[in-house]
Amino acid sequence: MTEHTPPLRFPAGFVWGTATAAYQIEGAAAEDGRTPSIWDTFSRTPGRVRNGDTGDVATDHYHRYPADIALMAELGLPAYRFSLAWPRIQPGGSGPANKAGLDFYDRLVDELLAHGIDPVATLYHWDLPQDLETPAGGGSAAGGGWTARSTAHRFAEYAALAAARLGDRITTWTTLNEPWCSAFLGYGSGVHAPGRTDPAAALTAHHHLLLAHGLAVGALRAELPSTARVSLTLNLAAVRPLTDRPADREAARRIDGLANRIFLDPVFHGRYPADVLADTAAVTDWSFVRDGDLTEISRPLDALGLNYYSPTVVAADDPAEPHPHPDGASGHPREPSPWPADHGIRFVPAEGERTAMGWPVDADGLYELLTRLRDELPGLPLLVTENGAAYDDYSDPTGAVHDPERIAYLHAHLTAVHRAIAAGAPVRGYFLWSLLDNFEWAYGYGKRFGIVHVDFASQRRTPKDSARWYAEVVRTGTLPPGPPTVA
Ligand code: FCB
Repeated sequence: MTEHTPPLRFPAGFVWGTATAAYQIEGAAAEDGRTPSIWDTFSRTPGRVRNGDTGDVATDHYHRYPADIALMAELGLPAYRFSLAWPRIQPGGSGPANKAGLDFYDRLVDELLAHGIDPVATLYHWDLPQDLETPAGGGSAAGGGWTARSTAHRFAEYAALAAARLGDRITTWTTLNEPWCSAFLGYGSGVHAPGRTDPAAALTAHHHLLLAHGLAVGALRAELPSTARVSLTLNLAAVRPLTDRPADREAARRIDGLANRIFLDPVFHGRYPADVLADTAAVTDWSFVRDGDLTEISRPLDALGLNYYSPTVVAADDPAEPHPHPDGASGHPREPSPWPADHGIRFVPAEGERTAMGWPVDADGLYELLTRLRDELPGLPLLVTENGAAYDDYSDPTGAVHDPERIAYLHAHLTAVHRAIAAGAPVRGYFLWSLLDNFEWAYGYGKRFGIVHVDFASQRRTPKDSARWYAEVVRTGTLPPGPPTVA
C-alpha cells in the first residue's frame, strides 16, 4: 500500500549525525606507533575476509580527516560518532599511552570542534590489541583476549588514558560497540576476529566484555567532568517467533535471552537472567562470574545506544522437515553458530525486500525496540547509534551516485524513530551508519554503507543522493512526506 505521510518534525535539540569506526576507515595501520589489532591478524589470515581485503589503507581517514570533516560540515551534520583505536593509544594493550596515537585523536577532535561538530567517541569498536589475544614472546600479558579476565582491567586502564587526554573536549563517551558481536561472532561462530568457535569461550568473553564496560565506566567517571555522558551501545535484536505456536514462542524466548536480556539484565539490573543461565548450563557453569562483578557491571549510565539494521525471526526446528544443515546428519556439518545454546532453533530468512547484505528491510523492528526500552528502562535517554543499509552503489558516467533504495530505507527507519518518540520513547539522537563507504569486516570493501561514495583506488569521495537528502532532513529537522520516489 502506498501511503503519503505528512512531514514529520523531530524535537528541538534532537542530535543528528553519522557514524564510523576506527579500523573501518583509518588505515595507517602501522603508523605512529600503532600495533596490530586482532582485526589486522584476522584480515591477513587467508579465507577470513572476502577478497583478502584488510584495513591497512581503508579510506585513509588517518590522513584525510580534515577533508572528511570539511565534508561533514558542508553537509551540515552536527554530530559525529567515531571510535578510538586502542592499539594506537596504548600499543600492545598495556603500559603507558602512546603520545603520537593520542595526538591523532587530539587533532581530530579539535578539527571537529572547529567546524562546530560534536565528537561522540566509542572506546572499543572491535580492534583489540593483538598482544592481549596472543602475547608477543616474553610479554607479561595473559593472552586469551576477552576470555581472559585481565583484559577487562587493561580496558579500564586504556579508557582512563583516553579520557585524561580527550575528556576536556569529548562530552559523550561509549565504552563498547555491540559486545554481542565481539563475544558471539568473535568466539562463537568465528566470522569475526579472533575467529574462535567455542561456545563456552563466547560466554566467558561476553562476561568479561561486560566487566570491562563496568570497570571503564568507573575509570571514565573518575577522569571526566561531571557533565560528561557515559553510555554503552548494544545491537539488540527485534526477535519474532515465526508463528504463535508455543514451540516457536519458546525459541523466541531463548534468543531474546541470548541477544537482549543477557545484556540488559546485568547492565541495568545487576543480575543475569535465570532462564539464560539454565539454557546455557550445558555450555558453562558461569564460574567466571565473581563476587562484585555485577555491581561493577551495573554502574549507572547516562544513555543507551541502540544499533538496528533488521529483525530476527526464529522458529522451532520441525523434525519432519529436512534441515539444510542437520548437525552433520546428511554429511553437511552445521556451521558453527554464534549463539551458545541454540539447539532446536531455526533462523528464518524474512520475506520481502532485502539490502545488499541480504538483510530484510523492516523498520517496525526499530520501533519495537525503542518502545521496549522506553518501558523497561524508564527515563533513560536513548540514542540510535547506528542504522543504515548497504546497496550496490556505483558512480554513473556523470559521476553521480544515485541510491534511491538507501533513501527509502532511511525514510522508513526515521519514520519509525519519529513514531517511537511520539509514543514516549526518549530518543535523543540518530547516527546514520555510515558517513563513508568502508571496510565492512568479513565482507571487506564489497559492501557499501556510506552516504558518501569512496572510490578505493583514488580515495575520491562523492556524496551520494542520500547524503544530500539526509543533509536536508538535518537542516530542517523534518522528514519530508513519503514515501520518496524510488527510480
Ligand atoms: C554493525 C557494526 C558496524 C558496521 C555495521 C554494518 O554491526 O557496528 O561497524 O559494520 O554493522
